[in-house]
Amino acid sequence: MKEWIEKIENANCLEDLENLRVETLGKKGVLTLEFAKMKTIPNEEKKAFAQNLNKQKAQVTEAIEAKKVILEKEALNKKLEAEKIDVTRFNNELSCGATHPVVETMNRIITYFQNLNFAVEEGPLVEDDFHNFEALNLPKYHPARDMQDTFYNKDYTLLRTHTSPVQIRTMLGQDKDTPIRMIAPGTVFRRDFDITHTPMFHQIEALVVDDEDKVSFANLKHVLVEFLHHMFGDVDVRFRPSFFPFTEPSAEVDISCVFCKGDGCRVCSHTGWLEVLGCGVVDENVFKAVGYENKSGYAFGLGVERFAMLIHNIGDLRSLFESDMKLLGQFK
Ligand code: PHE
Repeated sequence: MKEWIEKIENANCLEDLENLRVETLGKKGVLTLEFAKMKTIPNEEKKAFAQNLNKQKAQVTEAIEAKKVILEKEALNKKLEAEKIDVTRFNNELSCGATHPVVETMNRIITYFQNLNFAVEEGPLVEDDFHNFEALNLPKYHPARDMQDTFYNKDYTLLRTHTSPVQIRTMLGQDKDTPIRMIAPGTVFRRDFDITHTPMFHQIEALVVDDEDKVSFANLKHVLVEFLHHMFGDVDVRFRPSFFPFTEPSAEVDISCVFCKGDGCRVCSHTGWLEVLGCGVVDENVFKAVGYENKSGYAFGLGVERFAMLIHNIGDLRSLFESDMKLLGQFK
């Protein structure tokens, strides 16, 4: 048996070891065959013969078990070595993400107004008729609702068409005598789709409210001119009379075209001006709808995508939402 034990100890792998087990202890193994000889052994020698065989069997079994432990450990180590991952290795090809231009623009605007002490307010994306229209002086059947056609749910809730309902929620959500100085950034929805419109986009609303005569159009104008210079540099700013049901007077604000510098180009339709936001003095009917008396205020609302397009010279608004790596990769 010595030679078999030697073979077992020298086995190279688990397979070889298994073969050796079969060759020794298997059905036709050398030891098994020895045991079969028992029948032919004279009775008085049987005991010694059996004892000797059992001893050999025990030795072989023990050698196999011991070798098995060693080989199994080796196999495991080999496997672990093969599957090893060097977590410290630096992958130069790994590409880092970047802040989306819309988010970046939004953050820039939020930070600007936070520095001017504006609080940041939020409202739900699914609104009701009262907050989105009625309280903003847009009664049912008012033709101005057409400008903001939207998606209605069966229960007459709707996807908000602008961030202006947050004006209403903020006023209703606090004591009527506390002055307000807030912005409301967020997602809005309209039934629109062309190179300058997407059905989902982002706005930033602002509302300032204080006692009667404390807040004027002049304050609004000052804040906006400063803000637009911060965002677009040394541009001309003009206020054009306009109409919003929730502000009176209302204005749309243009900046001198940042692309052609006044000479006229395709982006500004050869007018030299780019429209950037809507604003006005809070309409009395809005204050009435929320039960505010003897107050004055101003509000404005801007489209974040429009700002991002002008700042980064992006031609098609829709491209901002196509996850196009060629576009987004430029903002790293
Ligand atoms: N809510 C208006 C819009 O979406 C923008 C606006 C806000 C105008 C506040 C005036 C005052 O077009």
